Amino acid sequence: DWIMGDYISEAVEAIRAQVGDEEVILGLSGGVDSSVAAALIHRAIGDQLTCVFVDHGLLRLNEGDMVMEMFVGKLHAKVIRVDASDQFLGQLAGVSDPEAKRKIIGREFVEVFKAQALALTASGASTKGAKWLAQGTIYPDVIESGGAKNKKAVVIKSHHNVGGLPEQLGLKLLEPLRELFKDEVRELGVALGLPYHMVYRHPFPGPGLGVRILGEVKKEYADLLRRADAIFIEELNNFVDEATGKTWYELTSQAFTVFLPVKSVGVMGDGRTYDYVVALRAVQTSDFMTADWAELPYALLKKVSSRIINEVRGINRVTYDVSSKPPATIEWE
Ligand code: XMP
Repeated sequence: DWIMGDYISEAVEAIRAQVGDEEVILGLSGGVDSSVAAALIHRAIGDQLTCVFVDHGLLRLNEGDMVMEMFVGKLHAKVIRVDASDQFLGQLAGVSDPEAKRKIIGREFVEVFKAQALALTASGASTKGAKWLAQGTIYPDVIESGGAKNKKAVVIKSHHNVGGLPEQLGLKLLEPLRELFKDEVRELGVALGLPYHMVYRHPFPGPGLGVRILGEVKKEYADLLRRADAIFIEELNNFVDEATGKTWYELTSQAFTVFLPVKSVGVMGDGRTYDYVVALRAVQTSDFMTADWAELPYALLKKVSSRIINEVRGINRVTYDVSSKPPATIEWE
């Protein structure tokens, strides 16, 4: 609408005035905030922006390709995609404690991003080097970072909104979403041409599948989990609730699949299987501090279960998590 149009032109002017002809680096995660920040800054300064997209190997099915398709294919933004999955998986090998896993992923992320940022600030190519670090900080983050009430939240924020990094790199901070609430960020994203499904996607934790594979993370587990999760999400989008006309994806606040590294017995054809288990998790919440497990239709659960077991060789049992928060958390780690 025209009000958002006005907002965009003002924001674009403000970014141009702030940045001048200098170059900007932004850590793109594929999440809503960094995506909208990237789209807005790109609208303002085009090729003066370079996005760095770190693929830690714990993303959802085809997520990396989708991010590249959107930002490079459609918006024609400059994006450096760093495939660091071997590095992350290597560091995670043998580690099963949830907080230790989070720390490793956060630390590696900063390291990989920092190396890329350094290369872009040191006058690498013929460029004079970036002077700015852009972040998708939104208003609630600004308030939250005042007090560290939730340990996970602090880790979250230190993940992509990398505290201390601008100073270390000698970069100025550009945070064009600082005054916006989440809903406004989403509206802005749509107005900037980002696809609805990207802007209204359920939240996804920074450590990604790293905290949805219980215990030690292995590539084999991540590959199975990605496929199972994609089926669950696809069917949540397929099933429409008659009363509201909404899909079950829209009717849930967060839904995902968890990989359980235990094996159970099953039968398939004439044979016996001895394969892994996954748990489906779907919750409804307004603030993620408390949450109810979603009463998904049995027909949906049935479809998802039969598709996962038939399509993902290596998984022979699907369970549904009926725990609310508190006392359970939304994630399993
Ligand atoms: P819990 O599991 O604590 O999750 O009920 C509440 C919300 O926070 C998300 N979450 C994270 N997000 N890094 C993130 O960026 C993390 O380490 C992390 N841990 C939990 C979770 O997905 C849910 O939306």
